Amino acid sequence: MNEKTKIRAVLLTVVAGVFPFLAACAALKQDRPLLPVQEYERMIVGRLDAEYVGTDNCVSKCHRHEKIADDFKHSVHGEQIKPETGLPLVNCESCHGPGSLGIEQISDDVADNDAKKIKCDTSTFLDIKNLPTPAQSLICLKCHSAASTPSLALWNASAHALNDVGCFDCHKLHKGPQQKVSREEMAEMCYGCHPEVRAQNNLFSHHPLREKKMACTDCHDPHGSVQPNLLKGNTVKEVCTRCHMDKQGPFAFEHADVTENCANCHTPHGSINNNLLNAAMPFLCLQCHAGHSIGANPSDATRTLFNNRCTDCHSQIHGSDVPTSTQKKGDFLK
Ligand code: HEC
Ligand code: HEC
Ligand code: HEC
Ligand code: HEC
Ligand code: HEC
Ligand code: HEC
Ligand code: HEC
Ligand code: HEC
Ligand code: HEC
Repeated sequence: MNEKTKIRAVLLTVVAGVFPFLAACAALKQDRPLLPVQEYERMIVGRLDAEYVGTDNCVSKCHRHEKIADDFKHSVHGEQIKPETGLPLVNCESCHGPGSLGIEQISDDVADNDAKKIKCDTSTFLDIKNLPTPAQSLICLKCHSAASTPSLALWNASAHALNDVGCFDCHKLHKGPQQKVSREEMAEMCYGCHPEVRAQNNLFSHHPLREKKMACTDCHDPHGSVQPNLLKGNTVKEVCTRCHMDKQGPFAFEHADVTENCANCHTPHGSINNNLLNAAMPFLCLQCHAGHSIGANPSDATRTLFNNRCTDCHSQIHGSDVPTSTQKKGDFLK
């Protein structure tokens, strides 16, 4: 746990006291010692004395899974067929482990089974919900290697993997045919563990996440990234100027290297200040500059110190190609 994580953990615990529903989340995500990968690999092999029987067998014997089976058939996973054989590449047992022992006692007569209350013996499957998180993720990663799913290349080093968050925490595979996290439902799903971001997005000035015109993955890659804060791309500027291209430059007169990190002045999720600013004007500018006055005669009593909205005059704050009257400097005046 780094310092930030610790503080976050304490905060989360405090909040959890107030909102009991968060307690489950906090309790779920405790740091557990990591084991060597082979240990996790061993956990997901399944019973060695069981055989693979195929989705049709699983489903025909347990009709209560009809919705699951139907959704699955229409999911990307269900649609994967090996071209050479025509057999499915992904089936129930790809994730749940071999199933022959589970249906051993069940006859083909479904009504008879129901009457005799014979159920499939789920204890012979992988105990998928109670495996340690890294083992759960490994079930997916055996197919979703970096080669097949490039966006997962940095998964193991991601803040999520390192903090005991696994694939199923975000991907609810049996909720419907959709295996991906949809853009409409994404923010709600993420807020479950990141309630502070919801609070920020409810502020007056905000990116239109709550209007569902944007999604967290416009800026973040939840699977891992080379930047801090799981940001996409190589720099903060790169993330922002993908949409705000007019701020990209290069300009003849740059605001030094200040605009290389848009977060020097802006906060991404929401702010009480206009334009997602970190601080209100003029305090934002006064963090780095002194207020000033203009005029030929310094002793002129009518001169006022401009300590108000600096951008009333310096409107081209992100950089300008137009020199000022001094012809040397870009004072971002127009
Ligand atoms: C790609 C992996 C994957 C495949 C394929 C898959 N499942 Fe699952 N299944 C999961 C995961 C993960 C869970 C537990 C977490 C959850 O509920 O999201 C689960 C849970 C379940 C549960 C328990 C649900 C509950 O609420 O307790 C049943 C029943 C189930 N699966 C049946 C099936 C059947 C039947 C098939 C084939 C038609 C199938 N699964 C295919 C990953 C998979
Ligand atoms: C037996 C192999 C296999 C396993 C195990 C598996 N997948 Fe997949 N998955 C695939 C294939 C093949 C595709 C389709 C091609 C692709 O998108 O890479 C796919 C696609 C997906 C997609 C993309 C869906 C879309 O709409 O584009 C998601 C999300 C996904 N899998 C999540 C998971 C998760 C989470 C797990 C673990 C519970 C998992 N998969 C386990 C083989 C597998
Ligand atoms: C913190 C939440 C989160 C976790 C954890 C997570 N995913 Fe995802 N995943 C997403 C979101 C959100 C998307 C949709 C991406 C988009 O819209 O750009 C996605 C998309 C995908 C896709 C679709 C193809 C792609 O590259 O975008 C696959 C495949 C996938 N995830 C597999 C996995 C696997 C396997 C794991 C575990 C190793 C995992 N995910 C863990 C949130 C998560
Ligand atoms: C417009 C781009 C953008 C969008 C959209 C966005 N973020 Fe962020 N997020 C950032 C940036 C930039 C940072 C780094 C902030 C900094 O350096 O001060 C960040 C930081 C974070 C952090 C870590 C620091 C913190 O504030 O707690 C979390 C967690 C986070 N974002 C979650 C989310 C979630 C969840 C969503 C969707 C509801 C989301 N973000 C949408 C740009 C974005
Ligand atoms: C099951 C809980 C859970 C879910 C769901 C979840 N996260 Fe996280 N997330 C965490 C934990 C735990 C951490 C690491 C501790 C921290 O920094 O808060 C984290 C860290 C982050 C960070 C900061 C990374 C850093 O470098 O500090 C970002 C950004 C983030 N998550 C974005 C997202 C987004 C976007 C989603 C939805 C697609 C999401 N999270 C869904 C639990 C979750
Ligand atoms: C996926 C596209 C996208 C990305 C990436 C993006 N933005 Fe935005 N941004 C928008 C949209 C859409 C709006 C809302 C425009 C509107 O309401 O007219 C907006 C609005 C803004 C505003 C004005 C807010 C207000 O209150 O009027 C600022 C400032 C801003 N973004 C800064 C940033 C910064 C900084 C980043 C990088 C961390 C960033 N944006 C990344 C799409 C994006
Ligand atoms: C030195 C501080 C500073 C930095 C750094 C900065 N901005 Fe701004 N930005 C502002 C101020 C101040 C405003 C409000 C302008 C006004 O009051 O007229 C603003 C307004 C905006 C707006 C909304 C109004 C408009 O002009 O479209 C967007 C979008 C924006 N900034 C994007 C960015 C992006 C993208 C970056 C990084 C490349 C960035 N900003 C870096 C200070 C900054
Ligand atoms: C994070 C620090 C920082 C913030 C915040 C900041 N600036 Fe700057 N600004 C600088 C630096 C560094 C320079 C370059 C100084 C130099 O070249 O002497 C500069 C240069 C300038 C210049 C002079 C340009 C020139 O060519 O001489 C003006 C005008 C200016 N800033 C206005 C503003 C205004 C207005 C704001 C608030 C919206 C602001 N700055 C916010 C750091 C900052
Ligand atoms: C009424 C218009 C106006 C307001 C308001 C204003 N400025 Fe200026 N500022 C100017 C002009 C004009 C210049 C160019 C003066 C020159 O070229 O001699 C300038 C120059 C500057 C410079 C460059 C000075 C130098 O010597 O390089 C900085 C930095 C600056 N302003 C910051 C600010 C800050 C910070 C604020 C808000 C607290 C602010 N300005 C408010 C008009 C204004």
